Amino acid sequence: MFLKYSAAAVAALHALALAQSVDLAGNVGPLTSIEDKKAIKTCDIADYGGKANSDISAAINDAFAACKTGGVVVIPSGNYNLENWVDLKNGKAWALQLDGIITRTGTDGGNMIFIEHSSDFELFSTTAKGAVQGHGYEFHKDGSISGPRLLRMYKVSNFSVHDIALVDSPSFHFSLDTCDNGEVYNMAIRGGQHGGLDGIDVWSERIWIHDVMVTNKDECVTVKSPAKDILVENIYCNWSGGCAMGSLGQDVNVTDITYRNIYTVGSNQMYMIKSNGGSGQVSNVVLENFIGHSNAYSMNIEQYWESMDPVDGDGVQLSNIKINNWTGTAADGMQRGPLQIKCADGAPCTGVDVTDFNMWTDKGDTQFYSCRSAYTNLRRAEPLYCMNGGESKTEYAVTTRTVTSAPTGYEAPKLADDLEEDFGFTVSIPVPAMPTSFFPGSAPIKAVAGGS
Ligand SMILES: *[C@@H]1O[C@H](CO)[C@@H](O)[C@H](O)[C@H]1NC(C)=O
Ligand SMILES: *[C@@H]1O[C@H](CO)[C@@H](O)[C@H](O)[C@H]1NC(C)=O
Ligand SMILES: *[C@@H]1O[C@H](CO)[C@@H](O)[C@H](O)[C@H]1NC(C)=O
Ligand SMILES: *[C@@H]1O[C@H](CO)[C@@H](O)[C@H](O)[C@H]1NC(C)=O
Repeated sequence: MFLKYSAAAVAALHALALAQSVDLAGNVGPLTSIEDKKAIKTCDIADYGGKANSDISAAINDAFAACKTGGVVVIPSGNYNLENWVDLKNGKAWALQLDGIITRTGTDGGNMIFIEHSSDFELFSTTAKGAVQGHGYEFHKDGSISGPRLLRMYKVSNFSVHDIALVDSPSFHFSLDTCDNGEVYNMAIRGGQHGGLDGIDVWSERIWIHDVMVTNKDECVTVKSPAKDILVENIYCNWSGGCAMGSLGQDVNVTDITYRNIYTVGSNQMYMIKSNGGSGQVSNVVLENFIGHSNAYSMNIEQYWESMDPVDGDGVQLSNIKINNWTGTAADGMQRGPLQIKCADGAPCTGVDVTDFNMWTDKGDTQFYSCRSAYTNLRRAEPLYCMNGGESKTEYAVTTRTVTSAPTGYEAPKLADDLEEDFGFTVSIPVPAMPTSFFPGSAPIKAVAGGS
């Protein structure tokens, strides 16, 4: 159904509907510099009994106790073990300098390094060689993914995490739970090829994540509910599950999320919003400048996601989702079309505005777009990829549009570090070097530490 609007009403509608990018650069992170923290106190674990090739959990706890109200805990370069997990809480104006490599030797569940209820915090390496090695393969080869997460942050404010690697977690690599005003950058995350080994999961406010590489077979950098004001940019999903939002359940509250400059190769998807039933809302999402090569799915809104048990509710309401400037190829665009927008019939999506979506298929010379209960505010010639126009909330069944010629300008550059094959699931995974670029043609926004 087409309604007639006055020009002013159309302009007002567009102004209302326009999803805006989140801008956090320079406005989040720790409040006190490392120099100023060191001027207060330095707590080197070597002075608290920490020795190479042995368990340093007690030394970290003691160094933290001495520096938690202002100072820098230092783990110098070298190889260390972690037999017992560390729960570092109620710190203020402190930092954890990780120049060494901490290898998991304990087998408890939970979180190897847990930072909680802290503010003005920084976790970093001065060399970009600091790492946590989880040796998850020791669990995985026995068929278990229930070992510890490597790093979890809960209720941390005004912080940054940068220039470290997280490798082969038995479970998730890095979760940001109910944090605010944080910056995460220059990170390499490399896990086994299996579901349940997420890279970064974030449900927080005012978080800027940039220049991160993830290799695994599950979440690359994924937003969960509740979340607000999240900016994710320059991300290299190198044989990963891909970036996503979800899975989304009941009382979802996600708003003002921007992903831009996202490079995805050999992954399950370039971006997926996933739910099955549920309630609440997602609004004002910008997904722009995405490059993909040989991924199974590309842009995929799936509100009938079969891998998730259905949740009570008519569906999560999605509105103002801007998908702009996508290039590259899907692995097989006729098997899994590069644009699939399947919204809940009980809560049709509004304002799904797709522009400059120029993806093609590696295999064959045909691909499809499919839509269900999805509406766009864009006013131009049909068929709007496959969406219906206007702001109707009327459900409609899957409609498919077949595309038989490559969109102009679909070709996209590749990165030198693309993996030729994955790391498997049952063998030891090496600590990666920090990449020099996380998106084609872009240097990291902040120089990688150690001048490498
Ligand atoms: C975080 O920093 C801002 C200033 O940028 C400050 O207003 C706020 O109180 C800080 N939060 C905490 C928990 O220290
Ligand atoms: C959604 O989250 C925002 C904070 O980000 C909060 O102010 C608002 O009350 C929440 N809405 C609901 C319905 O929970
Ligand atoms: C589209 O994305 C590419 C990267 O894939 C970028 O180089 C280009 O500047 C973007 N175009 C616009 C108009 O922003
Ligand atoms: C991505 O793949 C390349 C191998 O081709 C590798 O050098 C790089 O370290 C990988 N990234 C990660 C985080 O594993």
